[in-house]
Amino acid sequence: MFDLPSMRGSLAEHYDLAPNPDLAAEMHETFARMSRVVTPADWAIHAPYVAAINKLKKERNAVILAHNYMTPDIYHGIADVVGDSLQLAIEATKVEGDVIVQCGVHFMAETSKILNPSRTVLIPDMEAGCSLADSITAEGIAEMRAKYPGAPVVTYVNTTAEVKAASDICCTSSNAVQIVSQLDADTVIMTPDKYLAQNVAKQVPGKRIVWWDGSCIVHEQYTAQDLRDFREWNPGTRIIAHPECPPDVVAEADFSGSTSGIIDYVSSEKPEKAMLVTECSMASNISDALPEVEFIGPCNMCPFMKKITLEKVLWSLHTMTEPVEVDPEIAEKARVAVQRMIDLSAKSGR
Ligand code: 13P
Ligand code: SF4
Repeated sequence: MFDLPSMRGSLAEHYDLAPNPDLAAEMHETFARMSRVVTPADWAIHAPYVAAINKLKKERNAVILAHNYMTPDIYHGIADVVGDSLQLAIEATKVEGDVIVQCGVHFMAETSKILNPSRTVLIPDMEAGCSLADSITAEGIAEMRAKYPGAPVVTYVNTTAEVKAASDICCTSSNAVQIVSQLDADTVIMTPDKYLAQNVAKQVPGKRIVWWDGSCIVHEQYTAQDLRDFREWNPGTRIIAHPECPPDVVAEADFSGSTSGIIDYVSSEKPEKAMLVTECSMASNISDALPEVEFIGPCNMCPFMKKITLEKVLWSLHTMTEPVEVDPEIAEKARVAVQRMIDLSAKSGR
């Protein structure tokens, strides 16, 4: 648990973090990437943190990998690489710097450590978890194997290293269909996201897909009726849903894809009005690059992703906390499952 007052006191002894309109003005090029969604007053607050982090990042030879759900100040201000879970995992294998700061949730930092074990991987808040990762343990995988003997286990990357280690192969929302359809098996176990599994099942009708009963607390909140209402109130709106949403929600959408798939779709289609049925920061992060698109709500916030803030990133790099460690034996088994996914995914061009 963070002791915010003491962290702030300690940071103030080393950095000048007072709101600074002059520095904010000097950093106008960075601000231009988020000026539709961040006010000049807020930018004057963020700019000293962004400047301090970018300087410290060089001193520590660190690389910041940021998920698409990070807030615009992180996404546009300090990230070296942004992307969905698959892109971040692939990028983690290529990092040559000494340190990776994972601006995302814990399973993403663990995946980076598994794929690039000689780097120090920091997560700015250890409590940045995930409801899907919390929903299953390695015992749950064993339970599924006992229930469906011989069926391969495809595990979503939104899981702990122990769960990955107990699985045959991983998948992300961007390659789940490709991975499942390439497996030489009639029955496939998908864990832990029941909605992703049900959405994949619809696209791979030749296989019997069975699933674990997990869900994402952000995406499960949407209903098909929400989408129908928004279409009626905002005619012409293009609705784009993440595959962690329930299947009846995805069925109401015009397109479904991973977080980067959503960005690519909106960037190429440029609809007049778009509703992103996913975490709130997605629309904010692409808003300035797409002034012709009006993003209409509602959106839901991921409380875990939102634990990562500029001041915690600065603290993390300043103190080199919290380093993510994975038991080497578990890491090796988990790496096999993640690497199989990366290889199979590359084979199918994802
Ligand atoms: P993506 O792989 O689509 O970025 O999804 C990760 C995630 O946690 C979505 O909730
Ligand atoms: Fe996990 Fe859902 Fe948050 Fe993604 S949005 S990190 S799946 S809780």
